[in-house]
Amino acid sequence: MEDRIIYLLKKEQGYLSGEELSKTLGVSRQALWKHIQSLKELGFDITAVPHLGYRLISIPDRLYDFQVYQGLKTKDFGKRILYFNSLSSTMDMATQLALKEATEGTVVLAETQAKGRGRLGRIWYSPKYKGLYFSMILRPKIALDKASIITLLAAVGICEAIKEFCALDVQIKWPNDIMIHNKKLGGILTEIKAEVDEVNFMVIGVGLNINNDKRSLISQATSLKQEKGGELSRLGILQNILYKLEVNYSLFKNKGPLAVIDKWRQLSLTLGKRVKVYSHREHIEGEAVDVDSDGGLLIRLDSGLTQKVIAGDVMHCR
Ligand code: BTN
Repeated sequence: MEDRIIYLLKKEQGYLSGEELSKTLGVSRQALWKHIQSLKELGFDITAVPHLGYRLISIPDRLYDFQVYQGLKTKDFGKRILYFNSLSSTMDMATQLALKEATEGTVVLAETQAKGRGRLGRIWYSPKYKGLYFSMILRPKIALDKASIITLLAAVGICEAIKEFCALDVQIKWPNDIMIHNKKLGGILTEIKAEVDEVNFMVIGVGLNINNDKRSLISQATSLKQEKGGELSRLGILQNILYKLEVNYSLFKNKGPLAVIDKWRQLSLTLGKRVKVYSHREHIEGEAVDVDSDGGLLIRLDSGLTQKVIAGDVMHCR
């Protein structure tokens, strides 16, 4: 009901009489008033003027599920969103849901996380209402050794969404750091449940710095606000990301991994650079020449040999 009230008030832009609203919604004036009160409690600024009716003054900067659904262009991704004001980690909640057969495209979203986690056991700092922190369930029918491609396609989707929505030139540092001006804007954490070597489900976790102020960011990190010089709509960015994730997932399903990898190459900050990678307890140094169809990074060593890296942390040397 709350979603429909907001939809109608947004559409009207001016005052909408209580009588008309309750008639359209099929509820009593009393029930309508109660719904308006709960919307106010959620932070929606709605004025009520006798003889004129209700008017929507402002919408809070929150990622309520019903707000995300309005204007979402996807078919499946984000069609079921579980919204939380605070969670330990969206990864854990999404995993629990996936184990209970939640469908592909289900999203778990939190305004803050007490124990947000990043790759390689790091902490993902998740200040309240500043960024995007969500996890999505995917059930691709692929072998476990092909799963990295899903992370690459997620990075492509996120970059495309930011490029379009914010007009900023973002790039990907292998495997999945979202970068701008050599600083980290966001990252992707992929957790997989597999049986034998078939993927059962994947949870794709996305963390993105959006309206973070400079003082709350470490020197190697940035936010869209810092890069753009002003606050951005987290809601609009989320809707665009979900859309681009779905577009690239369909591309992968219909055209195969190379279609995704081609796009990844175009967005890569790593390819062509001299890199140092710490992987499986060894340091590998050389030129990052390509990614292969499994999403592994190919490094040309000084000896002339090429070595493939499937996981690790990349440092760009120059
Ligand atoms: C990285 O290390 O770059 C990946 C960061 C991923 C963070 C996101 S925030 C939403 C989801 N929940 C988590 O605990 N982590 C991921």
